[in-house]
Amino acid sequence: MTQLLSLSRSARLAGVTRAEIQRRIRRGELTTFEGEIAVSDLLRVFPQVSLDNDDALERVQRIKAAALPRSHEADTVLPSPEVLVSRLKGMSEALAAKVTALEAAQALLDEVAVRLTNLEQVASQPALLAGIQELADWLAQNRQALRERTTLDRKAQVLARDSLLRLMAASVKVIPSGRDFLVEGNESILEASVRAGLHLAYGCASGNCGSCKARVISGEVRKIREHDYPLSGREKEMGYVLTCANTAVTDLVLEAAEALSVDDLPRQEIRATLRARELLSPDLMSLHLQTPRTQSLRFMAGQRALLRLEDGSTAELPIASCPCDARNLHFLVRRRPRSPFAAALFGNQVRPGDLILIEGPLGRFVLDETTSAPAVFVAFGAGIAPMRSLIEHGLSLDSIEAFHLYWQTSGDDALLGQEPGRWCRALQDALDNFRLTLLPDAGLPEVRERLLTDHPEPASRRFYLAGPAGSIEPLAAALRERGVPEHRLSLEVLDD
Ligand code: FES
Repeated sequence: MTQLLSLSRSARLAGVTRAEIQRRIRRGELTTFEGEIAVSDLLRVFPQVSLDNDDALERVQRIKAAALPRSHEADTVLPSPEVLVSRLKGMSEALAAKVTALEAAQALLDEVAVRLTNLEQVASQPALLAGIQELADWLAQNRQALRERTTLDRKAQVLARDSLLRLMAASVKVIPSGRDFLVEGNESILEASVRAGLHLAYGCASGNCGSCKARVISGEVRKIREHDYPLSGREKEMGYVLTCANTAVTDLVLEAAEALSVDDLPRQEIRATLRARELLSPDLMSLHLQTPRTQSLRFMAGQRALLRLEDGSTAELPIASCPCDARNLHFLVRRRPRSPFAAALFGNQVRPGDLILIEGPLGRFVLDETTSAPAVFVAFGAGIAPMRSLIEHGLSLDSIEAFHLYWQTSGDDALLGQEPGRWCRALQDALDNFRLTLLPDAGLPEVRERLLTDHPEPASRRFYLAGPAGSIEPLAAALRERGVPEHRLSLEVLDD
């Protein structure tokens, strides 16, 4: 059915005056039906039909913006009104093109029907006449079926969903790597890339250093925060933007530097604040450190950092959190008789609010992002720390087929009832592709037996082992014997 618009609405949509619409009607460029204009006709004459001048739409956007709670969650769900309007403009133009093409196709079919009728009248050979009649009937039936179709077929439903997704989130493809991610809500391109597990270059994350500079090859961005770092006129002309200060309005192709190995990451020193510490057992403590807003730690999941207290004591510890939240870093600290670092923490000499220097990242125990093979993680005791980082990063990437976590907690059973235990049980409950095997009191032979029974063809898996050398090295040897190649084995040796 043809959709009709009043002259006022037509003028508003086209971004012109009513007088201009009337002028076009007088010149015969626009046709009216009982004082209204067909949408298809308006789109034909004004293919760039804009929503910019629609006061009603602007008012709705303002009301929505004012009504949104100012929580972080809400900010990450909905794009800003300006971005939404920009995306709607893009979609309206795409829709206009489709509608125009569809109506042209319909007109063509009408014309074909008329021509077939004419042919019927002049055809003299019976066989030709029968063929023409058959074709005309077929065409009439199918056109009628099309007119009567009132529900969306599956393809149309997918298109409708895609349209909604495009409205809520823009897709960014990074070259040369070809990896892509979605920018949602009011996120910057950089924030979205970190959340998605990519390792785009950045430094301050606040527009000062220029490290996040990247080139927009196609698509539209919008600045969401002012930045002090000056882009030259030439850089702007070439399409360079700061990914920490811009969001994606439309789908983008972005030329950007990415860290592909630990060697591509710079060594950093950051003074972080101890936000919380929690005694998980008499000998194990969890730490939550937070970096300044303008300086988060770039690291790869599974890496370590050196923590230095004000008194100079240090400990090199695996980071127990995901690089996708690079400001909030978690660690597990074990009480050790000859460790001044542990003594200061367990002796309450370091308290929340104190500063701790973080140096790093360190180590090469990282996720192999080149394979989607099922990944098997075997943690002994506090070895759960780097596993958590790896698994959370793997989930961010959304590219690993299946996860299987074994956790042997002999001597650290208290962990199972604490936050680390709740975390892995929550994953098991929430994810179909996540399997958890808890082995509280299992000895090494039992762990090996379970592992090899559950994975009779281990060579098709990727294994990550973390714990004391006396536990993980014999296990790695058993896996090698079963044909697991060296490049599919990663070991993180932790002190007993
Ligand atoms: S990360 Fe420093 S300017 Fe963007």
